[in-house]
Amino acid sequence: MSKAGVVLDVKTGAERLDTGLPDADRRFMAETLSELTVQTYRTLLRSQVVHWNVVGPLFQPIHTLTEQHYSDLFAAIDLLAERIRALGYPVPTGKAALGLDKALSLGSRLTAKAMVLELVDDHEALVRLIREGAAQAEELNDFVTHDLLTERLAFHEKAIWMLRAIVAD
Ligand SMILES: [Fe+2]
Repeated sequence: MSKAGVVLDVKTGAERLDTGLPDADRRFMAETLSELTVQTYRTLLRSQVVHWNVVGPLFQPIHTLTEQHYSDLFAAIDLLAERIRALGYPVPTGKAALGLDKALSLGSRLTAKAMVLELVDDHEALVRLIREGAAQAEELNDFVTHDLLTERLAFHEKAIWMLRAIVAD
């Protein structure tokens, strides 16, 4: 067996680590982070769809804000994926695993306000997932994941505020 085969449990994809975090807890947090990676990718792509297709008097602020958001989300995906690896698990790959097989369902016929409110829904869904994940990470003594998720929470809550402010009546 190759050296990689020795340290890598091919069956589960888990690497053996002795860091004080039990295997089951590392697996649990890796799965949570995987789900967040998928949902973050989806929100990135939907932010880009709005960035490109939005029209109307709010074009410029929405175009600018969505670019800031997808840039941040791109960087965040790297941090989430690298945390999965540090926990000893492989990062999900493939179209289905990344949720890219699902339609982005953001047509260019939507009004600017409707598009932005769809993004608000995406960020709110992520906030709910991240809040739960951060609480679980703390409970399992996975402080690094907890800190990362707390930062992600701050980003998404601020994104919700700004998106809502742009389309407020
Ligand atoms: Fe652009």
